[in-house]
Amino acid sequence: MMTRLSVNINKVALIRNARGANYPDLYKFALDCERYGAQGITVHPRPDERHIKYSDVPILRDLVRTEFNIEGNPTDDFMALVMANPPHQCTLVPDAPDALTSDSGWNTVKDFDRLKEVTAKLKSKGIRVSIFLDPDPAMIEGAANAGVDRIELYTGGFAKTFEGDKEAAVKLHRKTAKVAQEHGLGVNAGHDLNLSNLRFYKEQVEGLLEVSIGHALTVDALYFGLENAIQMYLNCLK
Ligand code: PXP
Repeated sequence: MMTRLSVNINKVALIRNARGANYPDLYKFALDCERYGAQGITVHPRPDERHIKYSDVPILRDLVRTEFNIEGNPTDDFMALVMANPPHQCTLVPDAPDALTSDSGWNTVKDFDRLKEVTAKLKSKGIRVSIFLDPDPAMIEGAANAGVDRIELYTGGFAKTFEGDKEAAVKLHRKTAKVAQEHGLGVNAGHDLNLSNLRFYKEQVEGLLEVSIGHALTVDALYFGLENAIQMYLNCLK
């Protein structure tokens, strides 16, 4: 069962933004990720545009030949951006505007009406919808009833506890993925996945369709080069 690697290019945009010009060239970087074997490109435009800018999205949407995934909190501005530049997949994330990074999933009971409305809107444009979820089987029924296609399991907690007790760290992920699949939902995962924990996660969570990885892969590219880093991540997913 193949798990796709979608490279999150936010960190490269962050370096680019440090000097104002398009250097490193974010668009070339996305194409190079694909050339070296990545099966998708992910961007997460935040309201302060500290990494991906809204103006990057139409350019990347035209350039990316693999799967284009836009993730973020479905504010009015975000929804207008996504509807105008429909990606293959939109991953909804409940991150606050000032969040350092996404650190928890949706509450599909409390947020149900909003999720249902936004999902219907995105699907009317033919966009596959995934929602970011903590590993909690109780959240799956709401996700399914809201009409989403997939869930993305938040792996930050897994990554934190992985070194101590791998089995305990992955247990709820396995369970939540299984319940999601029983409800007809596909399963993605992301956050803090790296060369140490990725192979184990992939082996343990059956039917994992896609991982989205940015921070650690960018750091590994500094040490090993981009082509090598991507190959090393792909290797963990074999
Ligand atoms: N998935 C979501 C929803 C995210 O917000 C992020 C970080 O932007 C990632 C995956 C990738 O996380 P990391 O950069 O730690 O690989």
